[in-house]
Amino acid sequence: QLFDNLRSLISLIDQLRDLGVQEYIKLPRIAVLGSQSAGKSSLLENIVGLDFLPRGEGIVTRRPLEMRLIHKPDALKPWAVFDVCKDQKFFDFEKVREYIVELTDKATGNSKDVVPDPIVMTVYSRDCPDLTVIDLPGITRIAIKGQREDIEKVTLEMATHYCQDERTIILAVCPANQDLSTSDGLQLAIKLDPTGSRTLGVITKIDIMDQGTDCRKELLGQVIPLKLGYVGVKNRNQKDINDKVRVALALQKETDFFAKHPLYSQMPPDIMGTKALIQKLTNILFKHIRASLPQIIKEIDNKVQDCEVKLAQLGPGLPRDNKEKMQVIWNMLTEYTENLNNKLRGKFDVKSA
Ligand code: GDP
Ligand code: NA
Ligand code: MG
Repeated sequence: QLFDNLRSLISLIDQLRDLGVQEYIKLPRIAVLGSQSAGKSSLLENIVGLDFLPRGEGIVTRRPLEMRLIHKPDALKPWAVFDVCKDQKFFDFEKVREYIVELTDKATGNSKDVVPDPIVMTVYSRDCPDLTVIDLPGITRIAIKGQREDIEKVTLEMATHYCQDERTIILAVCPANQDLSTSDGLQLAIKLDPTGSRTLGVITKIDIMDQGTDCRKELLGQVIPLKLGYVGVKNRNQKDINDKVRVALALQKETDFFAKHPLYSQMPPDIMGTKALIQKLTNILFKHIRASLPQIIKEIDNKVQDCEVKLAQLGPGLPRDNKEKMQVIWNMLTEYTENLNNKLRGKFDVKSA
């Protein structure tokens, strides 16, 4: 079977994306949805296995960032390539971070505004899974200095634009130290995916919940059920980030945290931690792409047919050779004037009759 592994399926989809097919036909992808500071970028870095996303106070993610992750077992060192300068390989991920900031500032003219035009990058690494994910600017309620007043509307619209697409899997990021029912990400996800067939809940910040509270019920879907369920994660806190704790160590700390926790160690292991999340996402995306392929192929066929009909209506193209071209144009002009003459004659005949 040609498409029996996820890599070949995703490559196919990415190739279609490169051809600009996304403009006409929806292609499968994963979008990360949540309010500002919910932990989206932290989660993504853990998934990718690299430190490279700009983070800090305020709204840092101000353009959608489309990341195509390519698992390359033989890559000695990971590297990234941006769509806007395809022949430059970035091996230094500190530079990747700077470049994302640069591209963001360039598009937003240094204001703190958000813009819908995405940054597209490909990451090759032996530590990343095969996924295409989009980091979205967080849903932001209150504008800060330099931001437009209607920032909430703008961020909601952008999130909606990406997540209303039936072929987008929504990763709804909800911080555990906030009521699940008030989570912006989950609220919007449920609105856009009412049957809950393509929303996966991710509960972050489990480590900083109020003493005496836990999120086992939320994780088990007993508070707000989702067909694809929930996964709980522990990302790096701000101190870890300031201390430059690397992803690999952070993942180890996360594993230890859940393994040693009196309550979470008793939970099903396939819903706890970033590794479980990656496994789950990979399975979901694989099934999702495989299920949508027949319809995608059909849509492409229809588009091709439409174009062929239009082409046929346009008639044969002009020959390249100048002499032949002149001949064709001459013939067309002759035909046109003859037609015109006939018509005029017809009119004249009617009048004179
Ligand atoms: P984003 O705005 O959704 O992209 O959120 P960020 O990933 O930038 O995270 C916002 C802040 O929350 C940062 O200071 C992170 O260190 C912190 N944070 C994110 N996830 C967790 C978590 O699971 N536990 C803890 N303690 N802090 C987290
Ligand atoms: Na957020
Ligand atoms: Mg972010």
